Amino acid sequence: MDADVQDPTWWRSAVIYQVYVRSFADGNGDGTGDLAGVRSRLGYLKELGVDALWFNPWYPSPLADGGYDVSDYRDIHPQFGTLAEAELLIAEALELGIRTIVDIVPNHISDQHPWFQEALASAPGSAARERFWFHPGKGADGGEIPTHWVSSFQGETWTRTTDPDGGPGEWYLHLFTPEQPDLNWNHPDVRREHEDILRFWFDRGVAGVRIDSAALLVKDPDLPEVGERDTHPTEDRDELHDIYRSWRAVADSYPGTRVLVGEIWLPDVDRFAAYLRPDEMHTAFNFDFLARPWGAESFRESIAQTLAAHAPVGAPATWVLSNHDVTRPVTRYGREDSAFAFLAKRFGIPTDPQQGLRRAQAAALLVAALPGSLYIYQGDELGLPEVEDLPRDLIQDPMHFRSGGTDPGRDGCRIPLPWSGAHPPFGFSPPGTATWLPQPDCWATLTVAAQDADPHSTLNLYRRTLGLRRALPELGDGPLAWIDDPAQRVADGILAFRRSPTFVCVVNTGDSPVPLPAHEEVLLASAPLDSDLLPPDTTAWLRTTPDAAASRAVPSRKEQ
Ligand code: NOJ
Repeated sequence: MDADVQDPTWWRSAVIYQVYVRSFADGNGDGTGDLAGVRSRLGYLKELGVDALWFNPWYPSPLADGGYDVSDYRDIHPQFGTLAEAELLIAEALELGIRTIVDIVPNHISDQHPWFQEALASAPGSAARERFWFHPGKGADGGEIPTHWVSSFQGETWTRTTDPDGGPGEWYLHLFTPEQPDLNWNHPDVRREHEDILRFWFDRGVAGVRIDSAALLVKDPDLPEVGERDTHPTEDRDELHDIYRSWRAVADSYPGTRVLVGEIWLPDVDRFAAYLRPDEMHTAFNFDFLARPWGAESFRESIAQTLAAHAPVGAPATWVLSNHDVTRPVTRYGREDSAFAFLAKRFGIPTDPQQGLRRAQAAALLVAALPGSLYIYQGDELGLPEVEDLPRDLIQDPMHFRSGGTDPGRDGCRIPLPWSGAHPPFGFSPPGTATWLPQPDCWATLTVAAQDADPHSTLNLYRRTLGLRRALPELGDGPLAWIDDPAQRVADGILAFRRSPTFVCVVNTGDSPVPLPAHEEVLLASAPLDSDLLPPDTTAWLRTTPDAAASRAVPSRKEQ
Protein backbone atom coordinates (compact mmCIF):
# COMPACT_ATOMS: atom_id res chain seq x y z
CA MET A 1 0.00 0.00 0.00
CA ASP A 2 1.23 3.51 -0.79
CA ALA A 3 2.65 5.29 2.25
CA ASP A 4 0.63 8.44 1.59
CA VAL A 5 -2.60 6.58 2.25
CA GLN A 6 -1.82 7.57 5.84
CA ASP A 7 -1.48 11.27 5.00
CA PRO A 8 -4.22 13.25 6.83
CA THR A 9 -3.89 16.15 4.38
CA TRP A 10 -4.27 13.97 1.27
CA TRP A 11 -7.41 15.80 0.12
CA ARG A 12 -5.74 19.20 -0.08
CA SER A 13 -3.77 18.24 -3.19
CA ALA A 14 -5.53 15.08 -4.38
CA VAL A 15 -6.22 14.21 -8.00
CA ILE A 16 -9.71 12.74 -7.96
CA TYR A 17 -11.03 10.78 -10.93
CA GLN A 18 -14.78 10.73 -11.42
CA VAL A 19 -16.16 7.33 -12.32
CA TYR A 20 -19.57 7.32 -13.98
CA VAL A 21 -20.01 3.59 -13.34
CA ARG A 22 -22.60 3.02 -16.06
CA SER A 23 -20.13 4.13 -18.70
CA PHE A 24 -16.70 3.17 -17.37
CA ALA A 25 -16.31 -0.56 -18.17
CA ASP A 26 -18.73 -3.44 -18.48
CA GLY A 27 -17.59 -6.51 -16.54
CA ASN A 28 -20.61 -8.76 -17.10
CA GLY A 29 -21.28 -8.09 -20.76
CA ASP A 30 -24.75 -6.57 -20.53
CA GLY A 31 -23.85 -3.25 -22.18
CA THR A 32 -23.83 -1.28 -18.91
CA GLY A 33 -20.74 -0.48 -16.88
CA ASP A 34 -20.42 -2.10 -13.46
CA LEU A 35 -18.17 -2.60 -10.44
CA ALA A 36 -16.58 -5.69 -11.97
CA GLY A 37 -15.58 -3.46 -14.90
CA VAL A 38 -14.04 -0.89 -12.57
CA ARG A 39 -12.18 -3.56 -10.61
CA SER A 40 -10.71 -4.93 -13.83
CA ARG A 41 -9.40 -1.47 -14.76
CA LEU A 42 -7.89 -0.36 -11.47
CA GLY A 43 -4.45 -0.84 -13.00
CA TYR A 44 -5.34 1.74 -15.67
CA LEU A 45 -6.32 4.24 -12.97
CA LYS A 46 -3.16 3.57 -11.01
CA GLU A 47 -1.06 4.13 -14.12
CA LEU A 48 -2.96 7.31 -14.88
CA GLY A 49 -1.77 8.56 -11.50
CA VAL A 50 -4.93 9.43 -9.59
CA ASP A 51 -5.25 9.55 -5.80
CA ALA A 52 -8.95 8.90 -5.39
CA LEU A 53 -12.07 7.83 -7.25
CA TRP A 54 -15.41 9.56 -6.90
CA PHE A 55 -18.26 7.26 -7.92
CA ASN A 56 -21.52 8.75 -9.11
CA PRO A 57 -24.45 7.17 -7.23
CA TRP A 58 -24.13 3.40 -7.46
CA TYR A 59 -27.19 2.57 -5.35
CA PRO A 60 -30.42 0.79 -6.28
CA SER A 61 -32.42 3.29 -8.31
CA PRO A 62 -35.05 3.38 -11.04
CA LEU A 63 -32.50 5.59 -12.89
CA ALA A 64 -35.04 8.32 -13.59
CA ASP A 65 -32.13 10.76 -13.21
CA GLY A 66 -29.09 8.58 -13.83
CA GLY A 67 -29.10 7.24 -10.25
CA TYR A 68 -29.67 10.58 -8.48
CA ASP A 69 -33.03 9.07 -7.56
CA VAL A 70 -31.91 6.64 -4.87
CA SER A 71 -34.26 3.96 -3.59
CA ASP A 72 -31.81 2.38 -1.12
CA TYR A 73 -28.72 4.21 0.14
CA ARG A 74 -27.14 1.11 1.68
CA ASP A 75 -26.84 -1.20 -1.29
CA ILE A 76 -25.58 -1.36 -4.87
CA HIS A 77 -27.70 -1.21 -8.01
CA PRO A 78 -28.07 -4.81 -9.23
CA GLN A 79 -26.93 -3.72 -12.71
CA PHE A 80 -23.67 -2.56 -11.16
CA GLY A 81 -23.01 -5.45 -8.77
CA THR A 82 -23.31 -6.17 -5.08
CA LEU A 83 -22.39 -4.55 -1.80
CA ALA A 84 -19.74 -7.23 -1.31
CA GLU A 85 -18.18 -6.23 -4.64
CA ALA A 86 -18.21 -2.57 -3.62
CA GLU A 87 -16.37 -3.51 -0.42
CA LEU A 88 -13.81 -5.45 -2.44
CA LEU A 89 -13.41 -2.55 -4.84
CA ILE A 90 -12.84 -0.06 -2.02
CA ALA A 91 -10.21 -2.36 -0.48
CA GLU A 92 -8.47 -3.22 -3.77
CA ALA A 93 -8.27 0.43 -4.78
CA LEU A 94 -6.79 1.32 -1.40
CA GLU A 95 -4.18 -1.42 -1.83
CA LEU A 96 -3.08 0.57 -4.89
CA GLY A 97 -3.07 3.79 -2.87
CA ILE A 98 -6.36 4.99 -4.37
CA ARG A 99 -9.11 6.21 -2.06
CA THR A 100 -12.86 6.03 -2.70
CA ILE A 101 -15.43 8.82 -2.48
CA VAL A 102 -19.13 7.98 -2.73
CA ASP A 103 -21.95 10.23 -3.83
CA ILE A 104 -24.56 11.04 -1.19
CA VAL A 105 -27.86 12.45 -2.41
CA PRO A 106 -29.53 14.13 0.58
CA ASN A 107 -31.87 16.67 -1.06
CA HIS A 108 -34.24 14.14 -2.59
CA ILE A 109 -34.87 10.43 -2.85
CA SER A 110 -36.52 8.20 -5.41
CA ASP A 111 -40.30 8.18 -5.49
CA GLN A 112 -39.86 4.39 -5.19
CA HIS A 113 -38.03 4.69 -1.85
CA PRO A 114 -40.05 3.06 0.97
CA TRP A 115 -40.38 6.40 2.79
CA PHE A 116 -42.09 8.06 -0.13
CA GLN A 117 -44.24 5.05 -0.90
CA GLU A 118 -45.35 5.05 2.74
CA ALA A 119 -46.05 8.78 2.56
CA LEU A 120 -48.17 8.40 -0.56
CA ALA A 121 -50.16 5.64 1.13
CA SER A 122 -50.70 7.76 4.25
CA ALA A 123 -53.19 10.51 4.88
CA PRO A 124 -52.45 14.24 4.61
CA GLY A 125 -50.93 15.46 7.84
CA SER A 126 -49.57 11.99 8.72
CA ALA A 127 -46.13 11.49 10.20
CA ALA A 128 -44.97 9.69 7.03
CA ARG A 129 -45.75 12.78 4.93
CA GLU A 130 -43.86 15.07 7.33
CA ARG A 131 -40.57 13.72 6.01
CA PHE A 132 -41.33 15.41 2.67
CA TRP A 133 -42.91 18.64 1.48
CA PHE A 134 -46.53 17.71 1.01
CA HIS A 135 -48.79 20.73 0.79
CA PRO A 136 -52.38 21.53 -0.15
CA GLY A 137 -52.72 23.46 -3.37
CA LYS A 138 -53.99 27.01 -3.42
CA GLY A 139 -57.50 28.00 -4.48
CA ALA A 140 -60.87 26.66 -3.42
CA ASP A 141 -60.28 23.16 -4.80
CA GLY A 142 -56.54 23.07 -4.04
CA GLY A 143 -55.88 22.92 -7.77
CA GLU A 144 -53.38 25.77 -7.88
CA ILE A 145 -49.71 24.96 -7.47
CA PRO A 146 -48.33 25.94 -4.01
CA THR A 147 -45.43 28.01 -5.45
CA HIS A 148 -44.05 28.82 -8.88
CA TRP A 149 -40.48 27.84 -8.05
CA VAL A 150 -38.76 26.75 -11.26
CA SER A 151 -36.80 23.52 -11.42
CA SER A 152 -33.13 23.56 -12.51
CA PHE A 153 -34.39 20.93 -14.94
CA GLN A 154 -36.97 23.47 -16.14
CA GLY A 155 -40.69 23.35 -15.42
CA GLU A 156 -42.69 23.21 -12.21
CA THR A 157 -41.43 21.85 -8.89
CA TRP A 158 -44.68 20.49 -7.47
CA THR A 159 -46.75 17.48 -8.53
CA ARG A 160 -50.28 16.81 -7.35
CA THR A 161 -50.98 13.42 -5.80
CA THR A 162 -54.08 11.30 -6.15
CA ASP A 163 -55.93 10.27 -3.02
CA PRO A 164 -56.80 6.60 -2.40
CA ASP A 165 -60.38 7.33 -3.51
CA GLY A 166 -59.09 8.53 -6.86
CA GLY A 167 -59.72 12.21 -6.13
CA PRO A 168 -57.04 14.92 -6.42
CA GLY A 169 -54.88 15.19 -3.32
CA GLU A 170 -51.99 17.22 -1.90
CA TRP A 171 -49.00 18.41 -3.89
CA TYR A 172 -45.40 17.40 -3.17
CA LEU A 173 -42.20 19.31 -3.85
CA HIS A 174 -39.45 18.11 -6.18
CA LEU A 175 -36.76 20.58 -7.17
CA PHE A 176 -35.73 18.15 -9.93
CA THR A 177 -38.03 15.55 -11.51
CA PRO A 178 -41.31 14.29 -10.02
CA GLU A 179 -39.47 10.99 -9.46
CA GLN A 180 -37.17 12.83 -6.99
CA PRO A 181 -39.32 14.12 -4.10
CA ASP A 182 -37.49 16.56 -1.83
CA LEU A 183 -36.87 15.55 1.75
CA ASN A 184 -37.85 17.80 4.63
CA TRP A 185 -34.58 18.61 6.39
CA ASN A 186 -36.43 20.12 9.35
CA HIS A 187 -37.46 16.58 10.23
CA PRO A 188 -35.23 14.73 12.75
CA ASP A 189 -35.68 11.39 10.91
CA VAL A 190 -34.14 12.88 7.79
CA ARG A 191 -31.12 14.15 9.68
CA ARG A 192 -30.64 10.92 11.63
CA GLU A 193 -31.01 8.78 8.53
CA HIS A 194 -28.34 10.66 6.60
CA GLU A 195 -25.85 10.65 9.43
CA ASP A 196 -26.40 6.93 9.62
CA ILE A 197 -25.84 6.58 5.86
CA LEU A 198 -22.55 8.47 6.25
CA ARG A 199 -21.49 6.03 8.95
CA PHE A 200 -22.56 3.09 6.80
CA TRP A 201 -20.11 4.08 4.04
CA PHE A 202 -17.34 5.33 6.34
CA ASP A 203 -17.55 1.94 8.10
CA ARG A 204 -16.85 0.36 4.70
CA GLY A 205 -13.65 2.34 4.32
CA VAL A 206 -14.68 5.17 2.02
CA ALA A 207 -12.48 8.22 2.35
CA GLY A 208 -15.14 10.78 1.64
CA VAL A 209 -18.52 11.73 0.32
CA ARG A 210 -19.55 14.03 -2.49
CA ILE A 211 -22.69 15.83 -1.38
CA ASP A 212 -25.22 16.26 -4.17
CA SER A 213 -27.14 19.54 -4.48
CA ALA A 214 -25.60 20.51 -1.17
CA ALA A 215 -26.97 24.06 -1.03
CA LEU A 216 -30.60 23.11 -1.63
CA LEU A 217 -31.56 20.94 1.35
CA VAL A 218 -33.31 23.53 3.50
CA LYS A 219 -36.43 25.37 2.33
CA ASP A 220 -38.29 28.34 3.70
CA PRO A 221 -41.26 26.66 5.44
CA ASP A 222 -43.53 29.59 4.57
CA LEU A 223 -43.11 28.75 0.89
CA PRO A 224 -42.72 32.31 -0.41
CA GLU A 225 -42.23 32.91 -4.11
CA VAL A 226 -38.65 33.58 -5.24
CA GLY A 227 -37.89 37.27 -4.72
CA GLU A 228 -40.64 37.79 -2.19
CA ARG A 229 -38.07 37.97 0.61
CA ASP A 230 -34.41 38.88 0.89
CA THR A 231 -33.34 35.27 1.07
CA HIS A 232 -33.95 32.58 -1.52
CA PRO A 233 -36.63 30.06 -0.44
CA THR A 234 -34.67 26.95 -1.50
CA GLU A 235 -31.03 27.93 -1.99
CA ASP A 236 -28.12 28.60 0.31
CA ARG A 237 -30.15 29.03 3.46
CA ASP A 238 -28.25 29.74 6.65
CA GLU A 239 -29.66 26.67 8.42
CA LEU A 240 -27.62 24.43 6.09
CA HIS A 241 -24.41 25.17 7.94
CA ASP A 242 -25.69 23.46 11.03
CA ILE A 243 -26.35 20.27 9.03
CA TYR A 244 -22.82 20.21 7.66
CA ARG A 245 -21.34 20.85 11.08
CA SER A 246 -23.06 17.69 12.26
CA TRP A 247 -21.81 15.80 9.23
CA ARG A 248 -18.30 17.04 9.87
CA ALA A 249 -18.51 15.73 13.42
CA VAL A 250 -19.45 12.30 12.02
CA ALA A 251 -16.56 12.41 9.52
CA ASP A 252 -14.11 13.53 12.19
CA SER A 253 -15.12 10.67 14.46
CA TYR A 254 -13.37 8.27 12.02
CA PRO A 255 -9.64 7.63 11.78
CA GLY A 256 -7.81 9.19 8.84
CA THR A 257 -9.37 12.17 7.10
CA ARG A 258 -12.83 11.40 5.73
CA VAL A 259 -13.75 14.32 3.52
CA LEU A 260 -16.97 16.12 2.74
CA VAL A 261 -17.02 17.53 -0.80
CA GLY A 262 -19.94 19.78 -1.65
CA GLU A 263 -21.68 20.19 -4.96
CA ILE A 264 -22.43 23.87 -4.56
CA TRP A 265 -23.40 26.08 -7.50
CA LEU A 266 -23.47 29.60 -6.06
CA PRO A 267 -22.64 32.84 -7.84
CA ASP A 268 -21.38 34.51 -4.65
CA VAL A 269 -17.89 33.17 -3.89
CA ASP A 270 -17.94 34.33 -0.30
CA ARG A 271 -21.25 32.56 0.39
CA PHE A 272 -19.68 29.53 -1.31
CA ALA A 273 -16.57 29.68 0.86
CA ALA A 274 -18.70 29.86 4.02
CA TYR A 275 -19.44 26.14 3.54
CA LEU A 276 -15.71 25.46 3.80
CA ARG A 277 -15.17 26.83 7.27
CA PRO A 278 -12.99 24.50 9.35
CA ASP A 279 -15.92 22.75 11.02
CA GLU A 280 -18.00 22.26 7.85
CA MET A 281 -17.06 20.72 4.50
CA HIS A 282 -13.48 20.13 3.48
CA THR A 283 -13.85 21.25 -0.12
CA ALA A 284 -16.47 22.02 -2.75
CA PHE A 285 -16.47 21.92 -6.54
CA ASN A 286 -15.37 25.18 -8.05
CA PHE A 287 -17.87 25.63 -10.85
CA ASP A 288 -16.99 29.24 -11.49
CA PHE A 289 -13.86 28.22 -13.36
CA LEU A 290 -15.67 25.48 -15.27
CA ALA A 291 -18.25 27.95 -16.55
CA ARG A 292 -15.70 30.50 -17.80
CA PRO A 293 -15.04 31.02 -21.49
CA TRP A 294 -11.59 30.25 -22.87
CA GLY A 295 -9.25 33.19 -22.30
CA ALA A 296 -6.51 34.48 -20.02
CA GLU A 297 -8.55 37.34 -18.65
CA SER A 298 -11.58 35.30 -17.63
CA PHE A 299 -9.41 32.48 -16.26
CA ARG A 300 -7.28 34.83 -14.25
CA GLU A 301 -10.25 36.61 -12.78
CA SER A 302 -11.80 33.30 -11.76
CA ILE A 303 -8.58 31.88 -10.31
CA ALA A 304 -7.82 35.05 -8.36
CA GLN A 305 -11.35 35.31 -6.97
CA THR A 306 -11.40 31.65 -6.04
CA LEU A 307 -8.07 31.74 -4.22
CA ALA A 308 -9.01 34.96 -2.42
CA ALA A 309 -12.33 33.51 -1.24
CA HIS A 310 -10.77 30.26 -0.02
CA ALA A 311 -7.85 31.83 1.84
CA PRO A 312 -9.77 33.19 4.85
CA VAL A 313 -11.37 29.81 5.60
CA GLY A 314 -8.11 27.90 5.04
CA ALA A 315 -9.66 25.50 2.52
CA PRO A 316 -7.91 24.45 -0.67
CA ALA A 317 -9.58 25.31 -3.98
CA THR A 318 -10.72 22.59 -6.36
CA TRP A 319 -10.31 22.65 -10.15
CA VAL A 320 -12.87 20.98 -12.33
CA LEU A 321 -12.98 21.11 -16.12
CA SER A 322 -16.02 18.91 -16.50
CA ASN A 323 -18.29 16.30 -15.02
CA HIS A 324 -21.31 14.18 -15.95
CA ASP A 325 -23.56 17.24 -16.12
CA VAL A 326 -21.68 19.55 -18.47
CA THR A 327 -20.48 19.69 -22.06
CA ARG A 328 -17.09 18.00 -22.55
CA PRO A 329 -14.22 20.56 -22.70
CA VAL A 330 -13.10 19.43 -26.18
CA THR A 331 -16.48 20.45 -27.58
CA ARG A 332 -17.04 23.49 -25.38
CA TYR A 333 -13.64 25.09 -25.95
CA GLY A 334 -14.06 24.61 -29.71
CA ARG A 335 -17.10 26.88 -29.74
CA GLU A 336 -17.18 30.57 -30.47
CA ASP A 337 -18.87 31.09 -27.11
CA SER A 338 -17.04 28.66 -24.86
CA ALA A 339 -18.68 29.68 -21.58
CA PHE A 340 -20.82 26.98 -19.99
CA ALA A 341 -24.37 27.64 -18.86
CA PHE A 342 -26.77 24.88 -17.96
CA LEU A 343 -29.82 26.13 -19.71
CA ALA A 344 -28.03 27.39 -22.81
CA LYS A 345 -27.55 23.93 -24.32
CA ARG A 346 -29.09 23.50 -27.76
CA PHE A 347 -28.73 21.11 -30.65
CA GLY A 348 -26.45 22.06 -33.52
CA ILE A 349 -24.11 24.67 -31.98
CA PRO A 350 -20.99 24.56 -34.20
CA THR A 351 -17.62 23.59 -32.71
CA ASP A 352 -14.07 23.22 -34.01
CA PRO A 353 -12.89 19.89 -32.55
CA GLN A 354 -9.19 20.45 -33.31
CA GLN A 355 -9.14 23.79 -31.58
CA GLY A 356 -11.26 22.35 -28.78
CA LEU A 357 -8.86 19.46 -28.19
CA ARG A 358 -5.82 21.72 -28.20
CA ARG A 359 -7.44 24.04 -25.69
CA ALA A 360 -8.70 21.18 -23.52
CA GLN A 361 -5.13 19.84 -23.34
CA ALA A 362 -3.80 23.29 -22.47
CA ALA A 363 -6.52 23.69 -19.83
CA ALA A 364 -5.61 20.31 -18.34
CA LEU A 365 -2.03 21.47 -17.73
CA LEU A 366 -3.25 24.80 -16.40
CA VAL A 367 -5.59 23.33 -13.80
CA ALA A 368 -3.05 20.68 -12.80
CA ALA A 369 -0.63 23.50 -11.94
CA LEU A 370 -3.09 25.46 -9.79
CA PRO A 371 -3.10 25.25 -5.97
CA GLY A 372 -5.53 22.74 -4.48
CA SER A 373 -7.13 19.51 -5.58
CA LEU A 374 -8.05 18.44 -9.09
CA TYR A 375 -11.02 16.54 -10.51
CA ILE A 376 -10.85 14.61 -13.77
CA TYR A 377 -14.04 13.33 -15.33
CA GLN A 378 -13.63 9.91 -16.94
CA GLY A 379 -12.88 10.23 -20.64
CA ASP A 380 -11.39 13.70 -20.44
CA GLU A 381 -8.00 12.00 -20.21
CA LEU A 382 -8.80 10.55 -23.65
CA GLY A 383 -9.90 13.92 -25.07
CA LEU A 384 -13.38 12.57 -25.75
CA PRO A 385 -15.73 15.08 -27.34
CA GLU A 386 -19.37 15.50 -26.40
CA VAL A 387 -21.53 13.19 -28.52
CA GLU A 388 -24.07 15.58 -29.96
CA ASP A 389 -25.83 13.42 -32.51
CA LEU A 390 -27.37 10.72 -30.35
CA PRO A 391 -30.58 9.46 -31.95
CA ARG A 392 -33.39 11.27 -30.15
CA ASP A 393 -35.17 8.04 -29.28
CA LEU A 394 -32.11 6.85 -27.33
CA ILE A 395 -31.76 9.95 -25.17
CA GLN A 396 -32.44 9.14 -21.51
CA ASP A 397 -31.69 12.34 -19.64
CA PRO A 398 -34.75 13.98 -18.04
CA MET A 399 -33.28 17.42 -18.78
CA HIS A 400 -33.94 16.72 -22.45
CA PHE A 401 -37.56 15.79 -21.90
CA ARG A 402 -38.30 18.60 -19.47
CA SER A 403 -37.00 21.13 -22.01
CA GLY A 404 -39.61 19.93 -24.46
CA GLY A 405 -36.81 18.39 -26.53
CA THR A 406 -34.87 21.62 -27.19
CA ASP A 407 -32.02 20.82 -24.77
CA PRO A 408 -29.96 17.78 -25.81
CA GLY A 409 -29.50 16.91 -22.14
CA ARG A 410 -26.40 15.39 -20.58
CA ASP A 411 -26.14 11.97 -22.22
CA GLY A 412 -23.54 13.25 -24.69
CA CYS A 413 -20.89 13.32 -21.95
CA ARG A 414 -22.01 9.96 -20.51
CA ILE A 415 -21.16 7.71 -23.47
CA PRO A 416 -19.39 4.41 -22.59
CA LEU A 417 -15.60 4.74 -22.69
CA PRO A 418 -13.72 3.33 -25.68
CA TRP A 419 -11.02 0.92 -24.46
CA SER A 420 -9.74 -0.90 -27.55
CA GLY A 421 -10.49 -2.16 -31.03
CA ALA A 422 -11.71 -0.58 -34.23
CA HIS A 423 -15.48 -0.70 -33.78
CA PRO A 424 -18.08 -0.17 -31.05
CA PRO A 425 -18.30 -1.33 -28.31
CA PHE A 426 -14.52 -0.67 -28.35
CA GLY A 427 -13.71 -3.14 -25.59
CA PHE A 428 -16.21 -1.52 -23.21
CA SER A 429 -18.37 -4.67 -23.51
CA PRO A 430 -17.74 -7.93 -25.35
CA PRO A 431 -17.90 -7.65 -29.17
CA GLY A 432 -21.43 -7.47 -30.54
CA THR A 433 -22.93 -6.04 -27.34
CA ALA A 434 -25.19 -2.99 -27.67
CA THR A 435 -24.05 -0.50 -25.05
CA TRP A 436 -26.66 1.44 -23.05
CA LEU A 437 -25.81 4.54 -25.06
CA PRO A 438 -24.18 3.99 -28.46
CA GLN A 439 -20.57 5.03 -29.09
CA PRO A 440 -19.63 6.89 -32.29
CA ASP A 441 -17.81 4.73 -34.90
CA CYS A 442 -15.13 7.42 -35.20
CA TRP A 443 -13.85 6.79 -31.66
CA ALA A 444 -11.39 4.09 -32.90
CA THR A 445 -8.50 6.57 -32.68
CA LEU A 446 -9.54 7.65 -29.18
CA THR A 447 -9.45 4.24 -27.50
CA VAL A 448 -7.15 3.65 -24.54
CA ALA A 449 -5.25 1.04 -26.59
CA ALA A 450 -4.72 3.42 -29.53
CA GLN A 451 -3.62 6.26 -27.24
CA ASP A 452 -1.38 4.00 -25.19
CA ALA A 453 0.67 3.35 -28.29
CA ASP A 454 0.96 7.02 -29.25
CA PRO A 455 3.45 9.04 -27.19
CA HIS A 456 1.71 12.27 -28.25
CA SER A 457 -1.80 11.19 -27.28
CA THR A 458 -4.01 13.02 -24.81
CA LEU A 459 -3.82 9.99 -22.51
CA ASN A 460 -0.03 10.07 -22.40
CA LEU A 461 -0.11 13.83 -21.86
CA TYR A 462 -2.39 13.30 -18.86
CA ARG A 463 -0.10 10.58 -17.51
CA ARG A 464 2.94 12.82 -17.80
CA THR A 465 1.05 15.73 -16.23
CA LEU A 466 -0.15 13.75 -13.24
CA GLY A 467 3.24 12.04 -12.86
CA LEU A 468 5.04 15.39 -12.70
CA ARG A 469 2.38 16.90 -10.45
CA ARG A 470 3.02 14.06 -8.01
CA ALA A 471 6.79 14.39 -8.28
CA LEU A 472 7.04 18.18 -7.94
CA PRO A 473 6.57 19.30 -4.34
CA GLU A 474 5.50 22.81 -5.37
CA LEU A 475 2.34 21.54 -7.09
CA GLY A 476 -0.96 20.79 -5.38
CA ASP A 477 -1.79 22.81 -2.29
CA GLY A 478 0.38 25.88 -1.68
CA PRO A 479 1.02 29.45 -2.80
CA LEU A 480 0.70 30.99 -6.28
CA ALA A 481 2.15 34.28 -7.52
CA TRP A 482 1.12 35.91 -10.80
CA ILE A 483 3.82 37.02 -13.19
CA ASP A 484 2.93 40.46 -14.44
CA ASP A 485 6.39 41.85 -14.93
CA PRO A 486 6.71 43.19 -18.49
CA ALA A 487 10.40 42.36 -18.26
CA GLN A 488 9.30 38.75 -18.26
CA ARG A 489 7.52 39.46 -21.53
CA VAL A 490 4.01 38.68 -20.44
CA ALA A 491 1.72 39.62 -23.30
CA ASP A 492 -2.04 39.89 -23.81
CA GLY A 493 -3.76 36.55 -23.82
CA ILE A 494 -1.08 35.12 -21.55
CA LEU A 495 -1.62 33.71 -18.13
CA ALA A 496 1.57 33.13 -16.19
CA PHE A 497 2.22 32.27 -12.58
CA ARG A 498 4.81 30.81 -10.29
CA ARG A 499 4.25 27.96 -7.89
CA SER A 500 7.78 28.22 -6.49
CA PRO A 501 10.85 30.36 -7.12
CA THR A 502 11.79 27.90 -9.85
CA PHE A 503 8.47 26.71 -11.30
CA VAL A 504 6.39 28.70 -13.79
CA CYS A 505 3.22 27.76 -15.64
CA VAL A 506 2.41 29.81 -18.70
CA VAL A 507 -0.65 29.57 -20.94
CA ASN A 508 -1.08 31.28 -24.30
CA THR A 509 -4.79 31.80 -24.97
CA GLY A 510 -4.11 34.36 -27.72
CA ASP A 511 -3.91 34.03 -31.51
CA SER A 512 -0.18 34.26 -32.09
CA PRO A 513 2.94 32.60 -30.69
CA VAL A 514 4.69 34.44 -27.85
CA PRO A 515 8.20 34.08 -26.45
CA LEU A 516 8.41 31.89 -23.38
CA PRO A 517 9.51 33.57 -20.14
CA ALA A 518 13.18 33.02 -19.29
CA HIS A 519 13.69 29.41 -18.24
CA GLU A 520 16.22 26.67 -17.81
CA GLU A 521 14.06 23.78 -18.90
CA VAL A 522 10.65 23.07 -20.36
CA LEU A 523 9.26 20.42 -18.02
CA LEU A 524 6.09 19.80 -20.00
CA ALA A 525 4.05 21.38 -22.77
CA SER A 526 0.56 20.62 -23.96
CA ALA A 527 1.64 20.88 -27.61
CA PRO A 528 5.00 20.99 -29.42
CA LEU A 529 6.82 24.30 -28.94
CA ASP A 530 8.30 26.27 -31.78
CA SER A 531 11.81 26.62 -30.30
CA ASP A 532 11.33 29.26 -27.56
CA LEU A 533 7.89 30.33 -28.73
CA LEU A 534 4.71 29.27 -27.00
CA PRO A 535 2.11 28.64 -29.73
CA PRO A 536 -1.55 29.68 -29.36
CA ASP A 537 -3.75 27.52 -27.14
CA THR A 538 -0.78 25.92 -25.42
CA THR A 539 0.42 25.60 -21.81
CA ALA A 540 4.00 25.03 -20.71
CA TRP A 541 5.50 24.18 -17.33
CA LEU A 542 8.94 25.71 -16.94
CA ARG A 543 11.87 25.25 -14.58
CA THR A 544 13.46 28.65 -14.06
CA THR A 545 16.45 29.99 -12.22
CA PRO A 546 15.45 31.14 -8.74
CA ASP A 547 15.28 34.90 -8.54
CA ALA A 548 15.10 36.95 -5.37
CA ALA A 549 11.81 38.68 -6.19
CA ALA A 550 10.19 35.37 -7.04
CA SER A 551 11.41 33.83 -3.79
CA ARG A 552 9.71 36.59 -1.86
CA ALA A 553 6.50 36.20 -3.83
CA VAL A 554 6.36 32.43 -3.61
CA PRO A 555 8.27 31.01 -0.67
CA SER A 556 9.20 27.37 -1.01
CA ARG A 557 7.14 25.01 1.13
CA LYS A 558 9.97 24.64 3.64
CA GLU A 559 10.08 28.38 4.27
CA GLN A 560 6.34 28.83 4.86
C1 NOJ B 1 -26.46 17.20 -9.42
C2 NOJ B 1 -26.01 15.98 -10.14
O1 NOJ B 1 -24.66 16.14 -10.53
C3 NOJ B 1 -26.93 15.80 -11.32
O2 NOJ B 1 -26.48 14.80 -12.19
C4 NOJ B 1 -28.30 15.51 -10.79
O3 NOJ B 1 -29.20 15.43 -11.87
C5 NOJ B 1 -28.78 16.60 -9.83
N1 NOJ B 1 -27.77 16.99 -8.88
C6 NOJ B 1 -29.97 16.12 -9.04
O4 NOJ B 1 -29.59 15.12 -8.14
